[in-house]
Amino acid sequence: MCGIVGYIGKNEIKEILLNGLKELEYRGYDSAGIAVLQDRELSTFKAVGKIINLENKLKDFSTQGFGIGIGHTRWATHGKPTEANAHPHIAEFSNVVHNGIIENYQEIKEMLQAKGHHFLSQTDTEVIVHLFEENLKNCDDSFKAFKKTIDTIKGAYAILLISKKDSTKIFYAKNGSPLIIARGEGGIYFASSDAPLIGLAQEVVYLEDGDIGFMQEGDFDKLQNIQPLNINKSFAQKDGYRYFMEKEIYEQHSVLLETMMGRVSEDRIALENLDRDFFEGIESITICACGTSYHSAMVGKYLLERFAKIRVNVVIASEFRYADFVIKENELFITISQSGETADTLEALKLVKKHHLKTLAICNVDNSSIVRESDRVILTRVGIEKGVASTKAFASQVLVLWMLGVFIAQEKKLINAQEIKEQAQAMLKATKATKVDSKLHERIKRLSKRYLHGHGFFFIGRDVFFPLALEGALKLKEISYLHAEGYASGEMKHGPIALADSHLFTIALMPEHLLFEKIKSNIEELSARDATICVISSQECEVADDMIFIPKASSYMEEFFSMMVALQILALEIAIKLGNDVDMPRNLAKSVTVE
Ligand code: AGP
Repeated sequence: MCGIVGYIGKNEIKEILLNGLKELEYRGYDSAGIAVLQDRELSTFKAVGKIINLENKLKDFSTQGFGIGIGHTRWATHGKPTEANAHPHIAEFSNVVHNGIIENYQEIKEMLQAKGHHFLSQTDTEVIVHLFEENLKNCDDSFKAFKKTIDTIKGAYAILLISKKDSTKIFYAKNGSPLIIARGEGGIYFASSDAPLIGLAQEVVYLEDGDIGFMQEGDFDKLQNIQPLNINKSFAQKDGYRYFMEKEIYEQHSVLLETMMGRVSEDRIALENLDRDFFEGIESITICACGTSYHSAMVGKYLLERFAKIRVNVVIASEFRYADFVIKENELFITISQSGETADTLEALKLVKKHHLKTLAICNVDNSSIVRESDRVILTRVGIEKGVASTKAFASQVLVLWMLGVFIAQEKKLINAQEIKEQAQAMLKATKATKVDSKLHERIKRLSKRYLHGHGFFFIGRDVFFPLALEGALKLKEISYLHAEGYASGEMKHGPIALADSHLFTIALMPEHLLFEKIKSNIEELSARDATICVISSQECEVADDMIFIPKASSYMEEFFSMMVALQILALEIAIKLGNDVDMPRNLAKSVTVE
């Protein structure tokens, strides 16, 4: 889950590479580096920490005229975040950057060390550039040597390699990890995602697994599947908010309208490329995902079983991959992923395709690996999500699952026109409920200072509010680094309540329209043991130490989206009070492309 960039052209190479890496910093930011090859001169620069550290190192370096360059921002898998382990990795006359994991690197390393190669890092990546140079000893064709290198390594990778022996070419290979080649006025660009290309390139090629080749000036037209790059720039800026996460919380009420556009009309749900036939013979559904996307999958189970009357199984992708779970052929396999590149989810999808299951992806990035691997896709359409802590993507995933539940019920005639109408209206109201009320934000900002130093947090809820509680806990953990757990509130008395005392903060989700009395009694059980309780509800709760009031609603899903926003803002404000970098929290990255 690193970010890689490349450039071939006459513009200032350092600036192009640095700006590209800044756009990819959300993918990994524990070290970074670039290499520039100009007039057979190869210059390599690396620095630990964020891109700014590399930028400072490069202030006296610049380029003029034609040249090529590669760059990398890292999320450590093999070897600590040190300068030696930062990319590009260097051999005698070549440099390489890589995103992914080389599974058989140890045996290759031992083979090369036996041939006298000297390694500087603890990484898996470094074997690629040494193996390339070793292969070049036995043939005088760089691409042949590169191809032989790629044929030898095993694992997931997006690789860019440059060499003084062939100083006008960037050699590339892709398997599992994302890689894009693009063309713009200024030349040819490489990138792990669209973000660095916005405003620079107009045409792109999304490379497929197994793609390998080289690019030099004027080569772009030899590529297949060239398509226009159409993404608007505004999504890439902060628009005056303190963090991208804050901006993305505030834009939920508008982007969710995009998610519904042309799909939810007054009395009908329509999902492009999906019809009754696609669901014919489907007797059950498995939803597979990771992290926040897994939490929306859990909400999906409640909604799909409730509306579509179809049994739903929810699985964590990293568990599903190796558990040898029973796979039934009349099952629909749904993957949920914001990035569309999460390795565990992608590999789980590839696994079930071998069993010829029908597959549907709910994803936010068109042309991503998961989208391209799936039979059908429902795009969530919320634009680029830059904050590592997912917010608007989660909201859109839940909305899509709600739409899917009603759609299947509509197609199976389990629901009548009036009920569809009610659900369509409830969806519209729920979307409006995500509009942030500045008074509520101020209230939570003031309240958050009292929730900085306990020995942990319990987030509790029932029904769809249980996975929402899990999501609230995850948001807080990700950006505040405080310990937090989400629980089905009925589970508390079976053990977790043993932790209850005044230093334990409980955030309780108490919807008026779903199991109100049940959750209220669970809150009273905690209050009886002196836990510090903050209730989020439209209804007063006498035993609460603090209340976060949401507006009165007409359905529990409307309350769900109001409470979601309150949880997102609570995590944001606590993290800001603790002085953390909310957009790039420690140890995390936006898209987890390694297992
Ligand atoms: C959520 O805030 C995290 N960034 C993380 O849990 C994320 O949801 C998970 O890595 C899955 O990512 P995906 O939706 O892009 O597949």
